[in-house]
Amino acid sequence: MPTIERVTAAEILDSRSRPTVSATCILAGGAQASASVPSGASTGTAEALELRDADPQRYGGLGCRKAVAHVNGEIHQALAGASLADQAELDGVLVALDGTPNKSRLGANAILAVSVAFARASALERGVPLYTHFAGMLGLAPDTLPRLTINLLSGGMHAGRQVAIQDVLIVPARPTTIDESLAMAYDIYQAAAALILKRYRMRLLTADEGGLAPPCESAEELIETAIVAIKSAGYRPGSDVMLALDVAASHFYAHGKYYLDGAQLDSPGMIARMVRWVERYPIVSLEDGLAEDDWEWWPTLRQALAKRALVVGDDLLCTNPQRIQRAIEVRACNTLLLKPNQIGTLTEAAQAWRLATQAGWQVTISVRSGETEDNWIADLAVGWRGDQFKPGSITQSERLAKYNRLLAIEAETQWPVVRWALG
Ligand code: PGA
Ligand code: ZN
Repeated sequence: MPTIERVTAAEILDSRSRPTVSATCILAGGAQASASVPSGASTGTAEALELRDADPQRYGGLGCRKAVAHVNGEIHQALAGASLADQAELDGVLVALDGTPNKSRLGANAILAVSVAFARASALERGVPLYTHFAGMLGLAPDTLPRLTINLLSGGMHAGRQVAIQDVLIVPARPTTIDESLAMAYDIYQAAAALILKRYRMRLLTADEGGLAPPCESAEELIETAIVAIKSAGYRPGSDVMLALDVAASHFYAHGKYYLDGAQLDSPGMIARMVRWVERYPIVSLEDGLAEDDWEWWPTLRQALAKRALVVGDDLLCTNPQRIQRAIEVRACNTLLLKPNQIGTLTEAAQAWRLATQAGWQVTISVRSGETEDNWIADLAVGWRGDQFKPGSITQSERLAKYNRLLAIEAETQWPVVRWALG
């Protein structure tokens, strides 16, 4: 039973040079570990609250000194000397201490950083890899690695909004290893960069997650650019490599209409457009195809894409067990995009995982657009048997930290990548 001696925190900077929280947990037995938390830009409105200082004189109000002070003060006082049976007990203390439904008092950034630092210190104390410790939280014994979905091209809020849809990702389908998947992604990324230079006379301009951001005029043009890049790298779209889209439709939706590439579509029109994409292109996963509050039409979308593409809920679900429960009841989607910082503790994220899995859904474990060099999410993706893992593009060290951790886990375990299945 780990006993906490001390928890501390510090403000560090994320990949957009915005402040975030890094927490350290020291156990009485001597184990000590730190963890830092990411931050989204294309956020769902039901996410737990990231506490920011709101001081316009410092980082435009985005400072995290208040969240850090909560860890060093109130959270440390509540936890110092506590012997905790497990992660669930620690997280229960944090949730009760905060006392709000969305962690707005202490801040989800403060709380999650402590939650993960404790998990890491506990794994160290037990002498097991972090992914094994995470697996234990859910009673799992993983023997595969997640399939990668790798950001190639971006629009929407992650780039200049030149196209409404947010991300076109490649899904290496043929490779059975992470190593091979990344080598394939490298070839395609290079081919895409060369193509964009030739077609748009544009040198590398990367979006928040490291994807290329060509000035395409429509979603179709963006998707077709990805397909040409795959072919010119010598791979076959539809067999070697598939595509996944993060439509992030909440961000071009207003008053019942989707403002997509100059058109105004109602919900059935938006669904028809996505069905056409799935028929024309090798798209196997469609995230946030409709807006987060367009609940009425999500079941129709799921039905329309059944057995053709995963219908993934990100902004729709916000890793929130209540929203997931509702989505299960109305059959709104069939894949959970799991981002622990949307909910604020590992235990609640585990509950989200359990609900989704019991409903027969798949789970895609995802990073955020604002990340740090920490790599705990890669261990989580393996330990929790993510069907897919979405770390962003294969550029920028905050993304490569996750890919490199996966390579290390692969070298250690020799587990194969899970077989692609639409489920
Ligand atoms: P965010 O977006 O991390 O900027 O919120 C990522 C996504 O929409 O999947
Ligand atoms: Zn998303």
